[in-house]
Amino acid sequence: MGRSLETLIRAATDLHVVGGIARTGRSVQEAQQLGLERVVDVSHAIGVLDYCDVLIDFSSPAFLAELLERYQPSLAGKAVVVGTTGLDDRAQSLLNQTAQTAAVLVASNFSRGVSLLMELAERAARALPPADYDAEIIEAHHRGKVDAPSGTALSLGEAVARGHGRERTEHRVDGRSGRTGERPRGEIGFHSVRGGSVIGEHHVLFLGTRERIELTHIATDRALFADGALAAARWLAPQPPGRYTMADFLGL
Ligand SMILES: NC(=O)c1ccc[n+]([C@@H]2O[C@H](COP(=O)([O-])OP(=O)(O)OC[C@H]3O[C@@H](n4cnc5c(N)ncnc54)[C@H](OP(=O)(O)O)[C@@H]3O)[C@@H](O)[C@H]2O)c1
Repeated sequence: MGRSLETLIRAATDLHVVGGIARTGRSVQEAQQLGLERVVDVSHAIGVLDYCDVLIDFSSPAFLAELLERYQPSLAGKAVVVGTTGLDDRAQSLLNQTAQTAAVLVASNFSRGVSLLMELAERAARALPPADYDAEIIEAHHRGKVDAPSGTALSLGEAVARGHGRERTEHRVDGRSGRTGERPRGEIGFHSVRGGSVIGEHHVLFLGTRERIELTHIATDRALFADGALAAARWLAPQPPGRYTMADFLGL
């Protein structure tokens, strides 16, 4: 993601990379080879943070927490865009604290299309109740993906559950096999296809007795997420301090 962001920012006329924060050693050298002028390790991050308007983080929950713990005061008045996934309670609480003095937008998926799909899935689930329409989610990813179902599929399931008037996907069923018996109403089925170089596909199905509604998102370029993060950064920069989501950015 760091490389992808750097490439897109280099091609943009309204954005400039002030610098990068990387692990000491190989990553710093690699980043310098990529042409970044200022690359520092976390203990010297102030040398980048002091000069930026927006901090964009795609790293790890532990690194993000360390950065925020050390440098929260320096982020006051700035914008913070976070794409790192799997954030734990510590990282979330530090983000909430940071949001008291900085504009903070956190998203587990920066695709604008996926954000819209979440909204559409929730609305569709509200209009098509589980008594009449069975909701199933199918996702496909490249053979290198190590987790299933995808985080986005799970978020879509939560959106459907919210539309059904439930908070979580407690009726989640991953795949089906053997003598499963009749499908109970209200289940949300998840199915993961893995193979080749598929960047990412998500399908949300509402299966009724006489009709079927399908909502589909297909990613066609890996730069999608960096592109969305930069669009969000442009929107976030002038916003007042607070926690924001992709739905706020997109006006959903
Ligand atoms: N929101 C979205 O749309 C979206 C899209 C794609 C990915 N993501 C998420 O973004 C995160 C990064 O994804 P990626 O594909 O870019 O992963 P990646 O290729 O592994 O990059 C992560 C980067 O963060 C650095 N990093 C991690 N821990 C660090 C630490 N303690 N100190 C300094 N640097 C550290 C890594 O350095 P090293 O190279 O030295 O390990 C690496 O350069 C993941 O959580 C991923 O799930 C989100």
